[in-house]
Amino acid sequence: MSVSDNKGAGDTGGIEESAEPATGSHDGVASEPAGKFAAILALPNDDPKKTVAVALALCLVCSIVVSAAAVLLRPAQQANAELDRRKNVVEVAGLVEGNAVEASEVETLFDSIERRIVDLESGEFTEEVDAASFDQRAAAADPDLGVGIAPDADIAGIGRRSRFAEVFLVRDGDDLQQVVLPVHGLGLWSTLYGFIALEGDLRTISGLKFYDHAETPGLGGEVENVAWRSKWEGKFAFDEEGGLRISVAKGAVPANAPDAAYSVDGLAGATLTSRGVTNLLRYWLDEEGFGPFLAKLGESGPSGS
Ligand SMILES: Cc1cc2nc3c(=O)[nH]c(=O)nc-3n(C[C@H](O)[C@H](O)[C@H](O)COP(=O)(O)O)c2cc1C
Repeated sequence: MSVSDNKGAGDTGGIEESAEPATGSHDGVASEPAGKFAAILALPNDDPKKTVAVALALCLVCSIVVSAAAVLLRPAQQANAELDRRKNVVEVAGLVEGNAVEASEVETLFDSIERRIVDLESGEFTEEVDAASFDQRAAAADPDLGVGIAPDADIAGIGRRSRFAEVFLVRDGDDLQQVVLPVHGLGLWSTLYGFIALEGDLRTISGLKFYDHAETPGLGGEVENVAWRSKWEGKFAFDEEGGLRISVAKGAVPANAPDAAYSVDGLAGATLTSRGVTNLLRYWLDEEGFGPFLAKLGESGPSGS
């Protein structure tokens, strides 16, 4: 139907007139919605009713398409997020380097790592939660699985934490080579989520990687910088007496500084994010976090089991 045809229908005030032929029905009951639709389509293009109806129909179609895409793509998104998390674990443990690594290689390496769930208070491995489905972020918010953190103890600025945490044990035969621990805490703009890897002596840091944060690119976002990350390798989190010492300095750490073995250069122009990194590591490596677990692991000898 042409625009002039539409105008003609409008000129004769013919909504009903043009609706009937479109439905092919004269009973006016069963075909009412179709009749109304045809009647609206028959209106002139510059009729406000037709404009609104077409806009609404377009919105409806678009929202159905977007919702369907969101639902259909969710499993793929979840699989990608899990793959990314696994990649971070194998990367912080130094089992792969760089981003150009096949998904199958990540899976193979991840499968070689033992993932266990730890009760943070006792420091013991636990079967109390299902390891396969355990989600530490969700658990923190759960009234049964999470606990509030007293404000004076909450140096990481997270408010609550899960009572349980996942840990990753990297072994060579029976010997514990590394332990990878999830850590998180407040930077300047956001909560930073990452992993720290400790060598089998449970003192020496073998890697630190943040994979989720919203700090400013070029400032706090430099926590992802490979050169900065490499400065952590070989630093000691604890001194020989077990005192927690690790911190991010303000500025560069002089090689002859007394605490050089426990300090990492601060991020330029990002003192607040750097301080957040110190605080979150100190929270998670201390009594409130993985302290009891690390103590138990240390007592259990080189196999860490
Ligand atoms: C737009 C903008 C974004 C910033 N983003 C960060 C950031 O992500 N992390 C951070 O520590 N400081 C950030 N800062 C700087 C802080 O406000 C603060 O000045 C800085 O942490 C002090 O570090 P400095 O003593 O090394 O200069 C930002 C500042 C501006 C203006």
